[in-house]
Amino acid sequence: MNYRHAFHAGNFADVMKHVLLVRLLRAMQRKEKGFLYLDTHAGRGGYDLERAATGTTLARKPEWPDGLGRLWPRDDLPPLMAEYIALVRDFDRNRGNIDASIRFYPGSPALARMVGRIQDRLALCEQHPAEAAALRDEFCFASRTSVHQMDGYVAMRAMLPAAERRALVLIDPPFEAGNEFAAITNALAAGLERQPAAVFAVWYPLTERARVDDFFVALRELALPPTMAAELAVGGEHADLKMKGCGLLILNPPWQFDREVEPLLRFMADVLAQAPGGNARIEWIVPER
Ligand SMILES: C[S@@+](CC[C@H](N)C(=O)[O-])C[C@H]1O[C@@H](n2cnc3c(N)ncnc32)[C@H](O)[C@@H]1O
Repeated sequence: MNYRHAFHAGNFADVMKHVLLVRLLRAMQRKEKGFLYLDTHAGRGGYDLERAATGTTLARKPEWPDGLGRLWPRDDLPPLMAEYIALVRDFDRNRGNIDASIRFYPGSPALARMVGRIQDRLALCEQHPAEAAALRDEFCFASRTSVHQMDGYVAMRAMLPAAERRALVLIDPPFEAGNEFAAITNALAAGLERQPAAVFAVWYPLTERARVDDFFVALRELALPPTMAAELAVGGEHADLKMKGCGLLILNPPWQFDREVEPLLRFMADVLAQAPGGNARIEWIVPER
């Protein structure tokens, strides 16, 4: 487990994932009844971007300037994206940054806590001991929030079905291991068995199209509910980029979620492009009935 999310915090992939996460959380809140937000791979909760590019041995080029850094100064954000930026600003200010430039960036658990209502509950899982300790510190005074140092895939079996009978599950693994797509497929099968109507959101990298297509083929073997994939490519297939884009697979997406997020994805494709051929697309793996 060498992965540290700090190196990637606020990059284009974080932006895309977090913009859509905020929209998913808001969609869950169209109903008054509370829900469980289960973050299977939570990270440390929040990140100091000044330190983000400094490893124990090597300094690395920070990634956030080509992600959040491109959105930060803009005053033409689509209204549904503006809430995400406002949340980032609040997090940064609450940490004590008074400069115009961003310094502190919220991870998925912090965004979910900021958006969450009194009736919504958070379960945050992180396997790495140091990251889990930081996560625990981050949320030690937060209400209705539990932190678990454990395997997030095991958590899906252990924590579903949610007592609330409503759940949004974010699965955001590091993709360090070669078999991550298979682990996700197995975990989704288990999650669907326990809570078929839960909303599951899975982040995945676009490094090779063929690997993602194989993943979709494997998914179709499951008895899937309506399922869509929202993808953002920051460069074309032949671009000289290690990660050409990313996607968020959403099982049981909220009603008309595709229509809501398509313009946001298109905006991100324009603003976050790093090479020719970038684009945004939505694919229905199993269409809404
Ligand atoms: C991409 S990061 C998570 C970022 C976070 N979801 C966010 O958006 O701010 C992936 C995290 O998963 C952790 N991790 C790796 N394998 C895990 C596992 N099996 N269960 C839980 N956490 C794991 C890593 O230590 C890392 O912090």
